[in-house]
Amino acid sequence: MAVRSARLFSFLVLMSLSLSVLIFSMENLGKNVRSKGYGDLIGSDVISWQKKSTTSSRHVFTTASQAKTASKSSSGMLNVVKKTMPPQTETPIPIIYRKSFSKLPQWDFEDAYNQDTPPRLTTCAQSLRNSKDEAFQKAFLPNISLFLHKNRISMTEWNRLSHFNNPFGFMDYKYDDIMASVKLIPKPKEPLLSPKPGSDGCVRCAVVANGGILNGSKMGAEIDAHDYVFRMNAAVTKGYEEDVGNRTSVYVHTSHSMIAALRFFQKYGYTAAPHDQNIKYVMIPEGMRDFQWLEGLLKGEQVSSGENRNRDPRTFYSGQYNESRFYVLHQDFLRYVRNRFLPSKSLNDSFWAIFRPTNGAFTLFLALHTCDTVSAYGFMTEDYSEYSNYYVERDLKTKVTFFANHDYILEKDLWKSLHNRKIIKLHQRSEKGKQRRKKMLLDTQKEH
Ligand SMILES: *[C@@H]1O[C@H](CO)[C@@H](O)[C@H](O)[C@H]1NC(C)=O
Ligand SMILES: *[C@@H]1O[C@H](CO)[C@@H](O)[C@H](O)[C@H]1NC(C)=O
Ligand SMILES: *[C@@H]1O[C@H](CO)[C@@H](O)[C@H](O)[C@H]1NC(C)=O
Ligand SMILES: *[C@@H]1O[C@H](CO)[C@@H](O)[C@H](O)[C@H]1NC(C)=O
Ligand SMILES: *[C@@H]1O[C@H](CO)[C@@H](O)[C@H](O)[C@H]1NC(C)=O
Repeated sequence: MAVRSARLFSFLVLMSLSLSVLIFSMENLGKNVRSKGYGDLIGSDVISWQKKSTTSSRHVFTTASQAKTASKSSSGMLNVVKKTMPPQTETPIPIIYRKSFSKLPQWDFEDAYNQDTPPRLTTCAQSLRNSKDEAFQKAFLPNISLFLHKNRISMTEWNRLSHFNNPFGFMDYKYDDIMASVKLIPKPKEPLLSPKPGSDGCVRCAVVANGGILNGSKMGAEIDAHDYVFRMNAAVTKGYEEDVGNRTSVYVHTSHSMIAALRFFQKYGYTAAPHDQNIKYVMIPEGMRDFQWLEGLLKGEQVSSGENRNRDPRTFYSGQYNESRFYVLHQDFLRYVRNRFLPSKSLNDSFWAIFRPTNGAFTLFLALHTCDTVSAYGFMTEDYSEYSNYYVERDLKTKVTFFANHDYILEKDLWKSLHNRKIIKLHQRSEKGKQRRKKMLLDTQKEH
């Protein structure tokens, strides 16, 4: 109940203020939150969607709570849009606008994805790819294209992706505006991760979100002991090493998270994005401002238009920006995560177009597609209300904030479900909640 009213509340607040300003100014800053992964490196560069759209039976990985809500929500139909792709053309199709739809439109190629990434061959017996979980195996696409680059966008691809709202595609956008930066994105020269020399063939990863559960957890040494450590958003480590570790091998961000993290977390000692030597930077292209950022970043110039005009993106990477270690997530990968793992009921609401999984969720799924084993720390758990919103908030207990553009409860349930199915290892700390419940029980018993 509290959760639903929190969501309703944030929704109302959002409606009364400017939607985009609040959402995009504070949104999800920190929370949630084989033997070579050439994946994205070989194989034909552009595979047209038509070749693959034959396999479009939809596999959704559901958690218990999703199954419940799905049966509840099967009334009140709005029009379901069904259209097939226009024939291949040499020119962009007319712009499709978000405002034309009162809920997520369903195209018959919605669940067809670029899958030109042969998976890294793994010799790791414990690899999550060998999971026997049927629902997971059906939903999981080991060959999904992870990264966007200039060779991956043909006119056919542009026209296909124009049917999906950002960050899942290019709805609302003009071809020239987006292509100005996409045509600069080089094809990645190296896989995101490879087994460490001398390893047993397993790539072991820790994904560290910024939730309050990490405060006082003393998980730092365990986190740092993994082969690779993923972090996102306001990943403060200085002064918090004992709880969160000090290494970052992959840092996931948007242009907004880069700027907002500095603005809101400086007081907690966050002075720059992680910049370990040889760190890999991964960008979620969530909107136009990210394509503007990318153009400046890739050219080594200031951003020429939009809200980040005159900013110099390279300065945000503390000297570690390097084209060979910079990756941009592919729209199909982002849409696949939403459609198959996090299909929130919000997608059927009038504010469908602002809804998307959190940066933490996309980061965890990137790890699931590039690592053999994944441990998740600082993500939302059952007893989230026992902890502050962010681990840096250790002096004053704060409440977890629910922004209307994310479905935190759905994500929390998914992490638990993946943990129970032994696909990830989720860091949970139930002692605190258990102790409190025990005390409450004792207190009630005393009263009687
Ligand atoms: C992924 O690619 C591999 C190698 O190209 C292929 O054998 C396999 O069938 C593909 N898997 C799926 C689920 O498409
Ligand atoms: C992290 O801490 C370890 C142990 O104190 C130290 O050896 C290492 O250099 C630190 N790494 C970074 C990136 O600061
Ligand atoms: C960029 O990174 C690559 C791969 O790690 C490395 O080989 C190259 O020397 C780096 N370039 C610069 C300019 O630092
Ligand atoms: C949206 O509503 C349609 C029609 O009722 C239903 O089939 C679909 O599962 C709903 N989507 C989500 C994500 O709940
Ligand atoms: C953070 O952890 C410390 C050490 O366990 C504890 O004293 C403090 O109360 C915690 N802060 C919050 C807000 O829970």
